[in-house]
Amino acid sequence: MTYMPNLQRILLFGSICGLFAAGTAAQENKVEYGRYLVEEVAKCHDCHTPKLPNGELDRSRWLKGATLDFQPMTPIERWHKTSPDLTPKGRLWQRWGEEAILKYLQTGLTPKGNPADPPMPGYKLKPKDAEAVLEYLKTLK
Ligand code: HEC
Repeated sequence: MTYMPNLQRILLFGSICGLFAAGTAAQENKVEYGRYLVEEVAKCHDCHTPKLPNGELDRSRWLKGATLDFQPMTPIERWHKTSPDLTPKGRLWQRWGEEAILKYLQTGLTPKGNPADPPMPGYKLKPKDAEAVLEYLKTLK
């Protein structure tokens, strides 16, 4: 290695640490943005989180899938009265894998090429938004 004065080394070390810190912060921002999209914009929990007997969402089973507590006033074809577990340990992740979930969030199409049954909305998120939602889902237990 060529000679490098100490100050330069220190500066180099500092900027590498800075890059790592910026990387971690960017990841945290992504998760936080995903949480915002899921919880404040799309409200995925309205259908994917079970409710307690008092009607409140069960925080201990956040996005773990539920039986819906509503139904259409007139019949809707293919109406699905349960929603799947969206957490990474759930069956959906095992069956589909991360790539298919990311693709689904951007196209509204399942790996078989179909839309999901109602009342699941057919979201067509921009790649950046779909990635953020995915990163947030990955943090769920
Ligand atoms: C209005 C209720 C509702 C909302 C809001 C909702 N979902 Fe769903 N979701 C469902 C139902 C019901 C199903 C089951 C549909 C099926 O099996 O075809 C489902 C299925 C899914 C599936 C699997 C699709 C399939 O074909 O198996 C994924 C992935 C999913 N939802 C993710 C999300 C995400 C992420 C959000 C928020 C961005 C969300 N859902 C918001 C009701 C909802």
